[in-house]
Amino acid sequence: MKLRSRAPNLGCRFMLRFLVLVLCGVPGVRALDNGLAMTPTMGWLHWERFVCNLDCQEEPDSCISEQLFMQMADLMVSDGWKDSGYTYLCIDDCWMAPERDSKGRLQADPQRFPGGIRRLANYVHSKGLKLGIYADVGNKTCEGFPGSFGYYDIDAQTFADWEVDLLKFDGCFCDMEHLVYGYKYMSLALNRTGRSIVYSCEWPFYLWPYYKPNYTEIRQYCNHWRNFADISDSWQSVKSTLDWTSSNQDKIVDFAGPGGWNDPDMLVIGNFGLSWDQQVTQMALWAIMAAPLFMSNDLRHISPQAKALLQDKDVIAIKKDVLGKQGYRLRKEDNVEVWERPLSNLAWAVAMINVLEIGGPRSYSIPVASLGRGVACNPACLITQLLPVKRKVGVYQWTSSLKMRINPTGTVLLRIEETSYL
Ligand code: GLA
Repeated sequence: MKLRSRAPNLGCRFMLRFLVLVLCGVPGVRALDNGLAMTPTMGWLHWERFVCNLDCQEEPDSCISEQLFMQMADLMVSDGWKDSGYTYLCIDDCWMAPERDSKGRLQADPQRFPGGIRRLANYVHSKGLKLGIYADVGNKTCEGFPGSFGYYDIDAQTFADWEVDLLKFDGCFCDMEHLVYGYKYMSLALNRTGRSIVYSCEWPFYLWPYYKPNYTEIRQYCNHWRNFADISDSWQSVKSTLDWTSSNQDKIVDFAGPGGWNDPDMLVIGNFGLSWDQQVTQMALWAIMAAPLFMSNDLRHISPQAKALLQDKDVIAIKKDVLGKQGYRLRKEDNVEVWERPLSNLAWAVAMINVLEIGGPRSYSIPVASLGRGVACNPACLITQLLPVKRKVGVYQWTSSLKMRINPTGTVLLRIEETSYL
């Protein structure tokens, strides 16, 4: 396609784009000031895949033990995960001994973590990775291990002494009166230790059943925050996470930005429940949502296809884009959802999901003028498809229509670059 000459009004258009981006929400909201999570955190978290398996006799390879984390650490380095950006290796619930020690400190289960967390942290650090740990704001963790209520300072200091780099702080067994106070208190306690510890909260998720959480405040205390129910290894779960996010986008999207992110929960790519197309959808949409990427899978047994998807550098580049703005659902019509996300250098990411769970691949057309708040392709743009396979789609003009074929429950992920910027 031929480009129209557009040199004379270039300045005006840049100004227009700038205004569009400013008016469409730059987070003016202060983030937690710990200098961390300037792009969404990436790593591995044991929960969805390994849950609370305590039986190391019967299942030594999948129980929650230091061996599991050491094996994952080895693979994160040898199999290219670390180089792709997945640097935080995170322990979820069920690592603790059932009781605190005589000084009131949490302790790891001595059978399953014979070297303790400090030694595991040393091992993880020796590989150039970071270690995450889990605790709970209430009286018990969701699986019934000791909670941090009444012990916030001691626990923060224990984690710092162990040289932990991230805390996932859950919200079970806590009354509403204390939940907000506890989440704030722990944030300050972590800061007081002087160690850089990413603070991953579930604060809004536990509040939503009662009232609308105060996201201005949450962003001031947390590096990321879960809003919605736990993900599981199924399309229904991924889809309901997307549905919740789009229905609530006006309330949450503008609060994401460098230092603080909405967390739609773990990536379950590489497990059992999602078809290939559904895995593509999860990867594409988690990038559109500027989500932290915590894989929960078994890196010892993962297909080359799932690995390539999770390590796709073009998709990871979108997720980590320095503009740091979360995308949103632009429209839903005829069982196709179109999502878009503004990127740096005036580029946009666009995802089209075919949500119909019957039939085969379907074609969908959209005027390019309706993408990127009318400026993504003005006057022309280069469109590259990143998923399900990478290919050049071509140069389009503002008046053109874009037609894509999308598999059922699959997604086409595109990168749109305004041609004058290339
Ligand atoms: C809650 C959290 C999950 C996981 C479990 C552990 O359900 O939302 O992500 O941490 O607790 O018990």
